[in-house]
Amino acid sequence: MKIDQIKKEFPIFDEKIQNNDLVYLDSANSSQKPKIVVDRINEFYTKQFSNVGRSVHYLAVAATNLYENTRTSVQKYINAKDKNEIVFTKGATEALNLVANTLGQSYLQEGDEVLITELEHHSNYVPWHFLRKSKNIKINFAEINKECEITLEEIEKKITQKTKLISITHLSNVTGAILPVKEITQLAHSKGIIVVVDGCQGAPHLKLDMQELDCDFYAISCHKMYGPTGLGVLYGKKKWLEELPPYQGGGGMINEVKKDRISYGELPNKYEAGTMATAQVIAFDQSIKFLESIGIENVMKHESDLVEYGQELLQKNNSVKLIGNPKNKGGVLSFTIEGVHPHDIATILDEDGVAIRAGHHCCQILHDKLNIPASARASVGIYNTKEDLDQLNQSINNCKKIFNL
Ligand SMILES: Cc1ncc(COP(=O)(O)O)c(C=O)c1O
Repeated sequence: MKIDQIKKEFPIFDEKIQNNDLVYLDSANSSQKPKIVVDRINEFYTKQFSNVGRSVHYLAVAATNLYENTRTSVQKYINAKDKNEIVFTKGATEALNLVANTLGQSYLQEGDEVLITELEHHSNYVPWHFLRKSKNIKINFAEINKECEITLEEIEKKITQKTKLISITHLSNVTGAILPVKEITQLAHSKGIIVVVDGCQGAPHLKLDMQELDCDFYAISCHKMYGPTGLGVLYGKKKWLEELPPYQGGGGMINEVKKDRISYGELPNKYEAGTMATAQVIAFDQSIKFLESIGIENVMKHESDLVEYGQELLQKNNSVKLIGNPKNKGGVLSFTIEGVHPHDIATILDEDGVAIRAGHHCCQILHDKLNIPASARASVGIYNTKEDLDQLNQSINNCKKIFNL
């Protein structure tokens, strides 16, 4: 599929939003959905619906096969070794909570140290904080440099004899910094340290190869990947998923249940308790097919051209201050305008149909470090164009005029 035809695949761009064409620059928050994904949800509910993994009737078996097909597609897409290393969750937040909770139950001990970074989203901090409270583990922070990057050297500096686990974002949802995950994993493994990756912003925009990255866990958010909401993926190395205890108890995750004992199901059922997000999983197969039809190399090239273009525009726009200048950067442009609250920026841009996000983007630690309460964030997806970024810049100028800047 050609890049310039992609916007047409997303029905939302046919809509007028408050009489404007939509300039959607909030994909780091959640991406828009291509028609094939929306249609697949409709088709499944209207023609094929059944719960999965339970009944033996025709619809149930067919739905189970479709559900498992998506697991295979995800496995291939991220080049995991084994299909059973793919666990569906309700989001990346749940995936990260699953990892922290199960490692907390059976692996991490009082006094052990977990190393995260100042770039982390609350989803990759709060679950570790729970363990700080319940198990007395210590959390250390790798600090950003002046470009808002996390270097391998900084990670190395913060590793101590007690570091048991490193949990890092693949791509910062505020500065766009892409972390050297492969190198960090090599370093960590050479010291017997586990690596967890928050891949929410990595998965939609970067080429993923779990066997090459070699991390122990990788969390994916499907709604940022042109897929449905209510769905995430946890990749976990088989040895960990086999060794760790289940996260939630209920139907589907057991093998045998007696009054005096319970044994748990095999992977991946062990981690998929209760009725899962069946329609979302089945439709997510179309998101992967959609990304494959474009080709991840093309996605990466298109988005890196866009971010370079946007960065240049905003750098030239006086009174706009971009946050961070990482060498290796994904499609996120966070900025402030002195004298204008980011919520005002977002509200004024919205009047022109330009949808951005304002706030701390679930990264209060980073905003504290930068000494700002909030920022405005424009983030790109596969459907964006240079014209969208021109409109962003134009609307920022309109905003500046209102504030006499
Ligand atoms: C870096 C990062 N981590 C975690 C999350 C949470 O993902 P989910 O919405 O799938 O729970 C987000 C979503 O904003 C994110 O950007």
